[in-house]
Amino acid sequence: MTRVLVTGGAGYVGSHTVRHLLGAGHDVVILDDLSTGHAESVPHGTPLLRVDLRDAQAVRAGLDGQRFDAVMHFAARSLVGESMQKPYEYLRDNFGGALNLIEWCSQHGVQRFVLSSTANLFGNAGQEPIAETDEIAPGSPYGESKFLIERALSWAERVHGLRYACLRYFNAAGALEDGSIGEHHDPETHLIPIVLQVALGQRERVSVFGDDYPTRDGTCIRDYIHVSDLAAAHLAAIERLEDRSVALNLGNGAGFSVLEVLETARKVTGHPIPHVLGERRPGDPATLVACSDQARKLLDWTPKYDLDAIISHAWAWHSKHPSGFR
Ligand code: UFG
Repeated sequence: MTRVLVTGGAGYVGSHTVRHLLGAGHDVVILDDLSTGHAESVPHGTPLLRVDLRDAQAVRAGLDGQRFDAVMHFAARSLVGESMQKPYEYLRDNFGGALNLIEWCSQHGVQRFVLSSTANLFGNAGQEPIAETDEIAPGSPYGESKFLIERALSWAERVHGLRYACLRYFNAAGALEDGSIGEHHDPETHLIPIVLQVALGQRERVSVFGDDYPTRDGTCIRDYIHVSDLAAAHLAAIERLEDRSVALNLGNGAGFSVLEVLETARKVTGHPIPHVLGERRPGDPATLVACSDQARKLLDWTPKYDLDAIISHAWAWHSKHPSGFR
């Protein structure tokens, strides 16, 4: 049994990964300051340390005396758009918090570190599926903050031997298969939850951000990957990558346009989901699709869910919990 510290374990991808870790028999401790995470998403009996990672003293006070085989680091500010308005907060909070954590890990015998990283590292991507070897050009201070953490990890490995896996997700979406936990951000900015809020009658319509991109229908194309598939990749990263460090792209390898997501959601929910065409959102690249061959090979990982399943599970969550965790 592996003892795993999950920072941000009360957040979206973190809480799903906690379920997968527990299901596989691992011993889990969650660290979360609950600034955006939800205490309601923490399973009964799983310890929750309320610690702000930006405070190095609080990190030591919360963690000293504990032993972890692996650390999964999800806790971060994660809105691309907000990071364009608050670049220094994003860079300081995400990088500063991660440094405190990495320093603690390298002083306390942690063997493996898994970082929740992002496709936003490849800000100016073209039409082709994006491989790990493609040029890094962060599209926002958020993406830059994740890249800085990746760099810090490479130094932690060189100096202290800390093994790491940076998992660069494309568009995380969906919910636990039974709809018991799912995505809840306040405010919500992500496409699929917004589309489903329209289906529920909580919003009037979806605004499609731009229809003049160089794509098949003019709207942005993204690679939506089920949050349970991401969780499975995190597990594989601690179970399979004992003796090497990696940075891996995680996606389905299939791109869907905003209009295609809307069409799928109409089919899954049976609701009309009206939309209007709006302005482009600054910072949105036209197409982001992953080449995940490396992850498939090194993690022996295959995503299980397609867009229909992603939206079905998200719909189960949203329709059973119209106010999310509130
Ligand atoms: N979109 C709309 N209308 C909306 C919301 C979104 O048209 O109301 C469009 C966006 O313009 C984009 C697509 O839907 O083309 C997906 O947008 P999301 O906000 O759901 O996701 P992003 O692609 O902007 O960002 C996601 C994660 C980031 C991560 C990034 C990697 O939220 O954390 O993928 O590219 F960095």
